[in-house]
Amino acid sequence: MKILVTGSAGFIGYHLVKSLLKDKKYQILSIDNFDKYYDKKLKLDRIKDLKLKDDKKNKRHQFVNLDLKNKKKLNSIIKKFKPLIIVHLAAQAGVRLSLSNPFKYLDDNIKVFLNILEISKSLKISKIIYASSSSVYGSIKKYPYSEKMIVNQPKQFYAVTKLTNELMAETYSGLYNMQIAGIRFFTVYGPYGRPDMAIYKFTKNILEGKKIMVFNKGNHYRDFTYIDDAVLGINNLIKKIINKNNKFHQVYNIGNSKPIKLLSLIKKIEKILALKAKMNFKPMQKGEVYKTFANIKKSEKYFKYKNKTTIDDGLKLFISWYRNFNKKFSKR
Ligand SMILES: NC(=O)c1ccc[n+]([C@@H]2O[C@H](COP(=O)([O-])OP(=O)(O)OC[C@H]3O[C@@H](n4cnc5c(N)ncnc54)[C@H](O)[C@@H]3O)[C@@H](O)[C@H]2O)c1
Repeated sequence: MKILVTGSAGFIGYHLVKSLLKDKKYQILSIDNFDKYYDKKLKLDRIKDLKLKDDKKNKRHQFVNLDLKNKKKLNSIIKKFKPLIIVHLAAQAGVRLSLSNPFKYLDDNIKVFLNILEISKSLKISKIIYASSSSVYGSIKKYPYSEKMIVNQPKQFYAVTKLTNELMAETYSGLYNMQIAGIRFFTVYGPYGRPDMAIYKFTKNILEGKKIMVFNKGNHYRDFTYIDDAVLGINNLIKKIINKNNKFHQVYNIGNSKPIKLLSLIKKIEKILALKAKMNFKPMQKGEVYKTFANIKKSEKYFKYKNKTTIDDGLKLFISWYRNFNKKFSKR
């Protein structure tokens, strides 16, 4: 079965391809443009790690370095590969940059998704899974966040692009009989994680004896979700969508459903590292939300989503990866 995965040099995309390759029935084509948003060496290392030793002719996994804004090239690649399903994870992630550079989000998140939808329509590829975000819940103050809630209060342009993706998917599935599922990810973390995210930044700075920036005195909450749980969820969702044939668009939360306070998170990291953090307290940042908290009943019911990893175990796994990864690179 052929699957196209976009954003495979990215955190979630890399882990998804890695897990799909464990099943020999899947043939994967994956795409990324090694966007410079964060350190390219991490992205290159992920792609290197996806190279299978017994796959000299790239039969099971072929990687293409391409900017998805290039519709013509993307069209010819997809036409040749003929995937049964597209898992679209490539995007400009992160909320903060969207305040200073919204145009990048317009291009990478909205225009690119339109390319994917238009190409799928013309090549009759009807099955798509795409990444949305918990940020679509914006300033809603009712917890936990459920997919039934009306979402129309985005707090920054990143959330606007993800909400727009959901509207686009709704329209295309209705007009062209497509089976599309959006995943609202809640702060995913783990090995090979993103350097712009809190757990990575805190660990790095504490280990290097540098100050960490703690916004809102650490009094906000995040529903940290371990990468392996998220990826297992995407795998299950792929299997469900494959078997659908009539028009379908739904969004699903993938979250841990156990939010923790930023200050408690810092304490947990300090304990594992056996080091004290030097904290630089700052006011709440513009565009940030106070709390994320996923209701996961819909995902549990539809594709048997489960959270197996506690935050304590997940942090240990992340920190152990972080130490090894940095040892490896400091030797090069
Ligand atoms: N990690 C999280 O906690 C989280 C939370 C909510 C939503 N999401 C969403 O999940 C998806 C994956 O997130 P991630 O954490 O792996 O982010 P990531 O930045 O690690 O991965 C995204 C990848 O997309 C690639 N990309 C961006 N624009 C591209 C383009 N025009 N052409 C080709 N490739 C392009 C980047 O190079 C990058 O490798 C994104 O859509 C993100 O918005 C992630």
